[in-house]
Amino acid sequence: MTEQPTARDPRSPSPSEVGPVLTVADLHVRYGGSHVLQGVSFDVPATGVTALLGRNGVGKTTTLKAIIGLAPRSGRIVLRGKEIQDEPTPRIIRAGIGYVPEDREVFGGLTVDENLRLVDPDLGVDAPIVGRLFPDLVARGKQRAGTLSGGQQQMVSLARVLLRTTSVLLVDEPTKGLAPKLVTEVADVLAEVARTTPILLVEQNLPLVRRIADTVVVLDAGQVVHRGGAAELVADADLTRELLGVSMRREGVA
Ligand SMILES: Nc1ncnc2c1ncn2[C@@H]1O[C@H](COP(=O)(O)OP(=O)(O)OP(=O)(O)O)[C@@H](O)[C@H]1O
Ligand SMILES: [Mg+2]
Repeated sequence: MTEQPTARDPRSPSPSEVGPVLTVADLHVRYGGSHVLQGVSFDVPATGVTALLGRNGVGKTTTLKAIIGLAPRSGRIVLRGKEIQDEPTPRIIRAGIGYVPEDREVFGGLTVDENLRLVDPDLGVDAPIVGRLFPDLVARGKQRAGTLSGGQQQMVSLARVLLRTTSVLLVDEPTKGLAPKLVTEVADVLAEVARTTPILLVEQNLPLVRRIADTVVVLDAGQVVHRGGAAELVADADLTRELLGVSMRREGVA
């Protein structure tokens, strides 16, 4: 038997898998008379963090919802080479897209362990990935999720998605409303997750984007107006002001 030189997480891309994990092409979303996404196209590379940025109301959440099939859309969405735009949401999730919505959707009356077991009755806080990424949740397995801090609830929401084998994670503003220390904790977990699972991250905290994102896609008025390196964008004050507005340049901690 040949021994592998290094252990590789089964969810990480194989060396031959060089293309993007996810491609969005000419995505349109209309709500009644409102044309919210107007031909959005971008790739999510098979490794690292891709940040989806833009001012309030430009269509970031709508883009994630459209990918997962929760917004009425047209266009092409390709996951690991397979078109999924005609699939219903449960099949898209089963095909390997994990979605952590902005409102976290933790069941407050259930314990942390019970929240995790909603995904799979056999996988609770004792699942290896929970011990590796969320040791704090292991200690709080019997605590009701409604009594956790916002950051801890965010961890439950992330852990629940990561219990399933996932090709790519869509995460919507995971640090919104969190205290600075918790922002740092969530950023650390996302950076660790991104070592094995590519992430498409909607995030308004630019220091955090600079720290953990590799590439950025910027939306404005339902269209992509910029694609490039995260460090380059954040380093360019004029460009960040032009693309994101001053409201994005609030104090942040990462
Ligand atoms: N279900 C809906 N019905 C009608 N309009 C909607 C619906 N969902 C979103 N919109 C509109 O689509 C636009 C984009 O909303 P979206 O939530 O995607 O923005 P966003 O970039 O995530 O903003 P934020 O930074 O505030 O989270 C907004 O004008 C919003 O009012
Ligand atoms: Mg949003």
